[in-house]
Amino acid sequence: MNVPIKTPSEIDKMRDAGRQAASVIEMITPHVKAGVSTGEIDRLCHEYIVNELGSTPAPLNYHGFPKATCTSINHVVCHGIPDDAKKLKNGDIMNLDITVRTADGYHGDSSVMFVVGETIQGERLCRITQECLYKSIEMVKPGVHLSELARAIQKHAESNGYSVVRDFCGHGIGAEFHEDPQFLHYDGYAPEADISLEAGMCFTIEPMINVGGYKTKVLRDGWTAITKDRSLSAQWEHTLLVTDTGVEVLTARGDEDFSFLNR
Ligand code: MF3
Ligand code: CO
Ligand code: CO
Repeated sequence: MNVPIKTPSEIDKMRDAGRQAASVIEMITPHVKAGVSTGEIDRLCHEYIVNELGSTPAPLNYHGFPKATCTSINHVVCHGIPDDAKKLKNGDIMNLDITVRTADGYHGDSSVMFVVGETIQGERLCRITQECLYKSIEMVKPGVHLSELARAIQKHAESNGYSVVRDFCGHGIGAEFHEDPQFLHYDGYAPEADISLEAGMCFTIEPMINVGGYKTKVLRDGWTAITKDRSLSAQWEHTLLVTDTGVEVLTARGDEDFSFLNR
């Protein structure tokens, strides 16, 4: 495995990429409500990334993906394709996954859940899934093994009655959208894949958590991944930099408080 260690100048470019991805999510948040289509959300994000940020939406044409963003509603686990005919309705939960490639050629990748109207079950799932992300971020520092982060995620999900998706993982990120290492969110590491973190590594944590079983299947469009049992699924994602003392959340948004990382 070849896990890139970023140089100080690359780290600056990653910080910029991360801030840009976060800004897309902040921009779109007030637009996400019942009656809006996922195609419209995608269009607004695409135009903002190109016209306001001067960057590129990395998913577009990535292995043939047809849109700028991924929009995954309810039992869709990830890689949902935005669609003008797919309107959000009361009680839906939706993941919006944004990846920006800057003019410098570096990537920032982040996703969030939106709860449309009211859904008690959806809100609980979204909250526990975000806690899985935060608990693992808090553990990131040099010397920590990926499996330790994964076990914390799995423990929190399963102790709340949920399951952790195994078919999709987090990833190293930098000049490549997806680079080494692979980050599994459950305890399934081969010894050689369970690397220990070093300062200068950048990677994503992006747990996908299901109300029912962990199994998924991909629809005939070749992209949309759903839970096999059609149960509800949620995901949150951040791009992280391992620092000498811990972690920097490169895609942190204004609505988040990461002061707990400085204890
Ligand atoms: N952003 C997703 C991730 O977190 C990848 C989307 S790939 C696409 O890794 F082709 F579906 F856009
Ligand atoms: Co990612
Ligand atoms: Co993503």
